[in-house]
Amino acid sequence: MIDPHIRVLPTPQAVADEGARLFIAAAEEAIALSDRFTVTLAGGSTPKAMYALLAAGTLPGKVDWAKVHVFFGDERCVPPDDPQSNFGMAQSTLLGKVPIPGDNIYRIKGEIDPEQAAIEYGQLLKEQFDTGGPDLVFLGMGDDGHTASLFPNTPALKETKHRCVSNYVDRLKSWRVTMTAPFLNRARQIVVMAAGAEKAQRVQEVLEGPSDPQRLPIQLITPSSGKMTWLLDVAAAQMGQ
Ligand code: 6PG
Repeated sequence: MIDPHIRVLPTPQAVADEGARLFIAAAEEAIALSDRFTVTLAGGSTPKAMYALLAAGTLPGKVDWAKVHVFFGDERCVPPDDPQSNFGMAQSTLLGKVPIPGDNIYRIKGEIDPEQAAIEYGQLLKEQFDTGGPDLVFLGMGDDGHTASLFPNTPALKETKHRCVSNYVDRLKSWRVTMTAPFLNRARQIVVMAAGAEKAQRVQEVLEGPSDPQRLPIQLITPSSGKMTWLLDVAAAQMGQ
């Protein structure tokens, strides 16, 4: 794996701005090359500002949304209109505001049995990517070092075969469906966005500490041939400076 590129930006908004610019650049490149751009979106709160910037269309460059195909790194096991839904968040902040065809949005079915949802999404990923992966994957990081729904000491961390699995998170007393590390690592480019002082300790442990992926699952994310970039704000990077 090529060493990750770590970018420290002044504010969370600057992280969002840079993430949006990377999205636009990757979309332009992929569409020019293959007339299609496949991107996996992250859930949680950090990406919201980036999605809003992309929806506004104010940054330089042009996204041909008709050729963009959107996937999700993980989903909470709730209906799509639930406030907890990662799809629902992306739909309200971005997807419902750009001219992307509905068929280009591949939602994890949070409303059905988690195992069945994981099987169906894994099959979809196999059909879409075969042995490859997305052009671009966005990930966040929780203050416990989780990413997507790969939480510390959970069964999903040990998955080596499937592209997508269900994962019970005892700490949250809830089920999730998540892309697995082996599948995420097939991406051509991975961008991790993390902001806020509450993540600083974990960021330092992940990037500078010993390998301990059961405790720090985002350490499993090491793209085999793709590029990995961390976009951090000053507050999240403060322990490493
Ligand atoms: C989710 C996300 C998750 C998220 C981290 C960081 O379903 O919650 O996929 O992995 O990226 O929890 O969340 P924040 O951006 O809200 O800190």
